[in-house]
Amino acid sequence: MKILVIGANGQLGWELCRRGRDKGFDILALDLPDFDITDPLQVQRQVHGAGVFLVINASAYTAVDQAEAQMELALKVNRDGASYLASSCAQAKIPLFHISTDYVFDGAKKAPYCETDPVCPLGVYGKSKAEGEDRIRELLKEHIIIRTAWLYGVHGNNFVRTMIRLGRGQEQLRVVNDQYGCPTFAGDLADALLEISGRLCKGGDITWGTYHYCGKGATTWHGFAEMIFELAGKHSQLKLKELQAITTEQYPVLAKRPAMSALDCSLIKTRFGISPRPWQEALGEMIQRLLSDES
Ligand SMILES: NC(=O)c1ccc[n+]([C@@H]2O[C@H](COP(=O)([O-])OP(=O)(O)OC[C@H]3O[C@@H](n4cnc5c(N)ncnc54)[C@H](OP(=O)(O)O)[C@@H]3O)[C@@H](O)[C@H]2O)c1
Repeated sequence: MKILVIGANGQLGWELCRRGRDKGFDILALDLPDFDITDPLQVQRQVHGAGVFLVINASAYTAVDQAEAQMELALKVNRDGASYLASSCAQAKIPLFHISTDYVFDGAKKAPYCETDPVCPLGVYGKSKAEGEDRIRELLKEHIIIRTAWLYGVHGNNFVRTMIRLGRGQEQLRVVNDQYGCPTFAGDLADALLEISGRLCKGGDITWGTYHYCGKGATTWHGFAEMIFELAGKHSQLKLKELQAITTEQYPVLAKRPAMSALDCSLIKTRFGISPRPWQEALGEMIQRLLSDES
């Protein structure tokens, strides 16, 4: 029984393939340039391939700021691609696990967002992801959509790797301290997806629908950076002397982001017994792996 992992070279896809194979799953890894989710014929051919029992879509257009200028492409990948996958899965009678984002919310809520809270994206990326979610719900009952947040992994570009690179080269850094969210290690999210895959494989009970999964606890980008430097400083020489806290207004970017996009993860715990660990613990493990790989 085969799992198609789409977006296999991305942060999450890479962890899914590595950990999935370690757990004994037969993984078929697909990504650009050989496989393009925006080509409905390619999608259909792969989904209908022999022995496929599940598709996990970890691919996406993820450039939040660039999306403001590339709306068509963001919608093509995140909305249309999701819809081609869902209709092919419906025809082939197999389920789809899909990943979405905290950026479907506007950040106006003063408490962590639940799955049933109304979406109201502030930017093109969030809008394209929200529309992708809707298409999947319309086309395929047997779906799991997991919204996650502030994702980082050992493979690919992300905030953690950028901070470490900058902290090695600069004495001063300014990081935004008025946006709150939940840093999530891609390895932990991959494990959660594989846990549900294992249950599916054994014919266990699955309640289809939308779930939240992110690291436990919320922080700001500045708080996240502080912890990155504290942990990285144990393994690596840093040049950084001062980490300044600034406001969103002091760091203008193209896309507007939610001020508070923490996610409530109680539903995935109730339905699947999956509980995320504290974000600081997962970050420590990732940094140790990242920096020990260098030496
Ligand atoms: N990163 C975050 O902070 C974050 C936060 C919340 C939710 N998420 C969601 O989590 C999921 C995984 O994110 P990630 O950070 O692992 O993403 P990522 O590292 O950007 O990886 C996405 C992968 O999808 C591939 N891809 C893009 N367009 C494609 C297409 N048309 N056909 C096939 N593959 C395509 C990319 O290839 P190229 O690199 O060649 O474009 C890349 O390998 C996504 O659904 C994302 O929206 C991410």
